[in-house]
Amino acid sequence: MTELLAAALAARQHAHAPYSHFAVGAALEDIHGHVHTGCNVENATYGLTLCAERVAVFKAMSEGVREFRRIAVAADTETLTPPCGACRQILWEFCGDIEVMLVNPGGKTETLRMKDLFPRAFDASFL
Ligand code: THU
Repeated sequence: MTELLAAALAARQHAHAPYSHFAVGAALEDIHGHVHTGCNVENATYGLTLCAERVAVFKAMSEGVREFRRIAVAADTETLTPPCGACRQILWEFCGDIEVMLVNPGGKTETLRMKDLFPRAFDASFL
């Protein structure tokens, strides 16, 4: 188990998911090797819920970090949980073609790349 996967599993413990009961953790490693964690934070209006991945990205960016290497995402599912569509758009824009490592509490893991998870993205190159 790499440190990044362990950090995502640990961040998952902080999830605030009283509506879905679906806890997610994320750990985003920047190019200096620092790790920025996130968990999902739900809201009674549902739509204002923030996913773990976006919390991790925005936490890092709000501290001035702009270059990232990889992200780990942890959820308790046998088929490993990938980032949702909204998170893929955000990850593509701010992190580019990084590695996306998925993990569950049983230690099952899989590593993907953003370019495969989010092909033919709409991004700033069209503007
Ligand atoms: N969720 C995440 O935090 N990340 C994902 O990649 C998938 C979904 C959260 C949002 C919501 O709080 C709960 O999981 C169920 O959708």
